[in-house]
Amino acid sequence: MGKTRAAITGVQGWVPEDRLTNFDLEKMVDTNDEWITSRTGIKERRILRTPGWATSDMCAEAVKGLLEKTGTKPGEIDLIIVATVTADMIFPDTANTVCDKVGAKNAFGFDVNAACSGFLFALTTGAQFIQNETYKKVIVVGADMMSSIIDYTDRNTCVIFGDGAGAVLLEARKDGTGIQDFVLRGDGTGRHVLHMKAGGSLHPATAETVANREHYAYQDGKRVFMHAVRGMVSTVEEVIRRNKMTAEDVDWLVPHQANMRIITSVAEHLHFPLEKVMLNIEKYGNTTAGTLPLCLWEYENKLKKGDNVVLTAFGGGFTWGSLYLKWAY
Ligand code: COA
Repeated sequence: MGKTRAAITGVQGWVPEDRLTNFDLEKMVDTNDEWITSRTGIKERRILRTPGWATSDMCAEAVKGLLEKTGTKPGEIDLIIVATVTADMIFPDTANTVCDKVGAKNAFGFDVNAACSGFLFALTTGAQFIQNETYKKVIVVGADMMSSIIDYTDRNTCVIFGDGAGAVLLEARKDGTGIQDFVLRGDGTGRHVLHMKAGGSLHPATAETVANREHYAYQDGKRVFMHAVRGMVSTVEEVIRRNKMTAEDVDWLVPHQANMRIITSVAEHLHFPLEKVMLNIEKYGNTTAGTLPLCLWEYENKLKKGDNVVLTAFGGGFTWGSLYLKWAY
């Protein structure tokens, strides 16, 4: 028997029906389809408009689909981790609400907040419980309802983000498949470059913070761009090198869908042809913690058992990293 590894044994995504196209945005802010397409690669994003629904509902839809698809009963789930920056409420955590909404009565849950790297951080966290054989079935969800924190009068941010959720089931495998290695990094000096200023303990909500539009995502796009390329390239290189591989040995690169130009630049630096890069930014935009599992979900049919897959992400914090896994099914 080989070493016990945490493997993704199922993946499911969920996105809202409503589309916000570049042409819709043209009517809302001073922008145009040509600018958005050439600068970001995004054509449309999904927006959650169901009354009373929030991030936990998108998570619950993805998890219910995942349970059905993998033939898993809700009571079998030990733990649900939700990566998000758009929790339903500041507290309690969204994961506990998701446990309730999917009927996972024997599970506990907690949230991970690492912005666009959230899914990667949550996946590595969940994997520890499987690898050390504490639990048998862990679900990791990456989900964000970015429309709840986007200022639709700010053309610098409103063209980029969308809503969506993706969930994976983690189980033990001893056949060599599963998570092989990862590199996670952080640099808190980047916290001013990409953040939501108010609403936390530093700047609690007041009439003034609302009037100053401080409850929306802010970014210095150019600086984020530069750090994102560097962070993803360096950690992919590190994980590939220390597993004695080259880019040629990697079947799929799964980059955070931040901006098509960032993805292209990362792929070029790493010598990955775009055919080996998972992409869905054109139709969903940047769904923050949702991008990586949504990519895996959409490319699931193309993945084969044993494929070498490298996930990479960069986000607010700054946070970034890369993870290498062998696809398990
Ligand atoms: N439509 C039209 N013009 C726009 C615009 C829009 N939606 N958004 C910005 N502009 C304008 C700017 O105001 C600026 O005008 P100015 O020169 O008169 O000041 C001009 O376009 C160029 O802006 P700039 O910021 O240099 O563009 P850019 O090429 O850097 O692209 C981003 C802007 C935001 C698309 C890009 O920086 C980016 O994607 N950064 C990373 C963001 C990201 O991924 N965030 C998620 C976190 S992982």
